[in-house]
Amino acid sequence: MFSNKDIAQFAQLETPFYYYDLSLLQETLSSCAAAAKVYHFHVHYAMKANFNDTLLKKIRETGFGADCVSGNEVKKAIEMGFSAGQVVFAGVGKSDREINYALDQDIFCFNVESVQELEVINELALQKGKKVKVAIRINPNVDAHTHHNITTGLDENKFGVNSWDLPACAEMLKKCTALEFVGIHFHIGSQITNLDVYKNLCVRVNEFAQWFEERGYLVRVLNVGGGLGIDYHNPDQQIPDFEAYFKIFNDFLDVRSNQEVHFELGRALVGQSSSLISKVLYVKNGKKKNFIILDAGMTELMRPALYQAYHQIENISKKGQEVNFKYDVVGPICESTDCFGKEVALQETLRGDLIAIRSTGAYGEVMASHYNLRENVSVVFSEEN
Ligand code: LLP
Repeated sequence: MFSNKDIAQFAQLETPFYYYDLSLLQETLSSCAAAAKVYHFHVHYAMKANFNDTLLKKIRETGFGADCVSGNEVKKAIEMGFSAGQVVFAGVGKSDREINYALDQDIFCFNVESVQELEVINELALQKGKKVKVAIRINPNVDAHTHHNITTGLDENKFGVNSWDLPACAEMLKKCTALEFVGIHFHIGSQITNLDVYKNLCVRVNEFAQWFEERGYLVRVLNVGGGLGIDYHNPDQQIPDFEAYFKIFNDFLDVRSNQEVHFELGRALVGQSSSLISKVLYVKNGKKKNFIILDAGMTELMRPALYQAYHQIENISKKGQEVNFKYDVVGPICESTDCFGKEVALQETLRGDLIAIRSTGAYGEVMASHYNLRENVSVVFSEEN
């Protein structure tokens, strides 16, 4: 919900831009940290959701670690002051260069996604005379009940080691003298709103932990990944229910006294703290459809074009006025999928009106592209209270 003051300020600025509400971000981070603390759970922020410096600084100050999926994310985390001992590195295709870089930084742990990757990390670590901590990312074949494009924990997905490869994995670990096994890692998908999914995950985590223990491995870390969804239909209901989320893991995970539970939340921490603010360039009234053409497109916010993702769209210049029109809200890019919403109910909209596309803090700015030689997307921060 934007105040009249916010809207007056936006009207002075060049659009489009991502607007970040830093007070809301702070509230969200504090709420998550407090809920995790109750159970002594550790949170590593999934940097891929948003690696804007201002956000990262706040996240680091909250005490969270960093979950990275590329060498450059590891580099960024270190540069932003995350301690190397709180950096984890996942990814199904880590290059030798990325592995070498992370080895040099002495990060906490590599989340390893295949038997072959174990062998490669071991070789590279041996060359450096280092001992390196690894967790095995297991594909638990648990359905996340989310959009199929953002499901990661099913047999058909490329991520993690499948259960039938675990014996080979255990054999390889025995051979790899430079590797120290610390635990098991899971991430079954993103934008998970049905918390029962996590109960199913816990059951699988317990089984896999036992599997390793029975073979003489000490499982110190249970990393259950991220995925907690946000309510895109209620962008003003802003802080996810971290208490309910963590409680599930407390209730359903068998955690021994010598074990740590790690989480990798991205979207839930940053998603609601931002809106993409755009201006109406043109209104085209067709026979079948009325179009609003914005100055922001899929180059600024890719999610609707890529996953048919829903983002609430508001005409903030006409706040409080009657909603009695329907428009397809589209961008200026030369692609038919450059559409933010079809048949969107809005106030009568005119050229120059400001449109807010809500809940864009996660996978928004960071997935922007230069297609059509578009400019870098601008960013505006709220003043902090
Ligand atoms: N850990 C790993 C290993 C991951 O791959 C991801 C996300 C996360 C943690 C964080 O998940 P989150 O808590 O943010 O759901 N671009 C898509 C989402 C892709 C998620 C990729 N992995 C979107 O816009 O919906």
